Amino acid sequence: MRVLLVIGAGPGQGAVPSLIAALRRREWAVLPILSSPAEASCADLWSGLCAAPLGSLDAPPAADVALLAPCAVPLPPALAGLVSRLRVAGVPVVSVPTAPSPALPGPRPAGAAGWEVVPAALPLLGGGVAPLWLAGPEAVGEAVAAAVTRPDLAGKGVLVTAGPTVEDIDPVRFLSNRSSGLMGLALALSAWRRGAAVTLVHGPLQVAVPALPGLAAVPVRSAAQMHRAVMECVDAQAAAILCAAVADFAPRQVAEQKIKKTTAAGGDEPILPLRRTPDILAALGALPRRPYLVGFAAETEHVQAHALDKLRRKGCDLLCANDVTEPGSGFAVTTNRITILSRDGSITPLPLLSKSAAADRILDRVAAALAS
Ligand code: CTP
Repeated sequence: MRVLLVIGAGPGQGAVPSLIAALRRREWAVLPILSSPAEASCADLWSGLCAAPLGSLDAPPAADVALLAPCAVPLPPALAGLVSRLRVAGVPVVSVPTAPSPALPGPRPAGAAGWEVVPAALPLLGGGVAPLWLAGPEAVGEAVAAAVTRPDLAGKGVLVTAGPTVEDIDPVRFLSNRSSGLMGLALALSAWRRGAAVTLVHGPLQVAVPALPGLAAVPVRSAAQMHRAVMECVDAQAAAILCAAVADFAPRQVAEQKIKKTTAAGGDEPILPLRRTPDILAALGALPRRPYLVGFAAETEHVQAHALDKLRRKGCDLLCANDVTEPGSGFAVTTNRITILSRDGSITPLPLLSKSAAADRILDRVAAALAS
């Protein structure tokens, strides 16, 4: 993808190099132009960071999407002229304002055709708002990706669970698993790019969730907390994608003090009494009115047979199975090879893909099902 980057002056320009790096990490071509000729003394710097020659405002290079970062609001006349020419040419525009402005439109204007503005004010998890600029280059990259994505889930609620759960044994020990949360985050972002109102209920992740309007992150720790958080929001969801690696067992009791090895029950062969945790996917599958339901199955053998059994047992519409022992499909890697099994009996093996591309293929199926 070719991104026309219109680099503005003023507060926020210092963050442009890290933004360029984030865009290039996505393997996009970044084509820089400067919004003000007065800045031309830095031409070599921008051109070097983008590995592309500096274009001109009057004759910008052809691109799939334009990003104004940072830009003043309202736009200076030269930029406003460029934006209207881009609109006529059908090029979506994402702008990153230098300062919060109540005048800016919302996150995804109806239809998302041509003109897309990143809102300046973002709700923060702990309350209050922050300018998007502070939300970081990954959030801006997502907004750029969203601007070129068909919003086929616009306005639909999509719930994603991600990451491991952590079951405390005592104040210093816990039971958990190797899930990084990368696949779940990829699913949440794919749904968000398509315009869904996303709720991401997640255990402790090894990756940061970008702060984006319309992406509500609900951090939890244990399976019981994840179960509660999911049940609280399920009524608002058109689809639920349960990707979390939920711990199947938790200690029957959490010890208030650190368990000492000399006094632990069982002596030299200590015993930790466990209880089963709630099966969140099965609980959703059993609801009388449930969202379109997608489950995951991480298996180490007999992948399709186990996955088919899970699909039926837990009442899913789709089940995404992967063999975690296969190279490139395990934990904490950025790729995955998934087979999608459907309630109607179809089996679709996907090739080895980046987790983001695999998420897009899964969301294609969800969007098609919700549209039918
Ligand atoms: N899952 C869940 N709640 C649980 C356990 C699993 O919601 N307590 C969901 C996972 O998010 C995933 C699916 O169920 O979508 C399958 O998870 P997996 O751990 O593979 O299945 P289990 O039911 O634990 O089966 P098994 O241990 O026999 O493999």
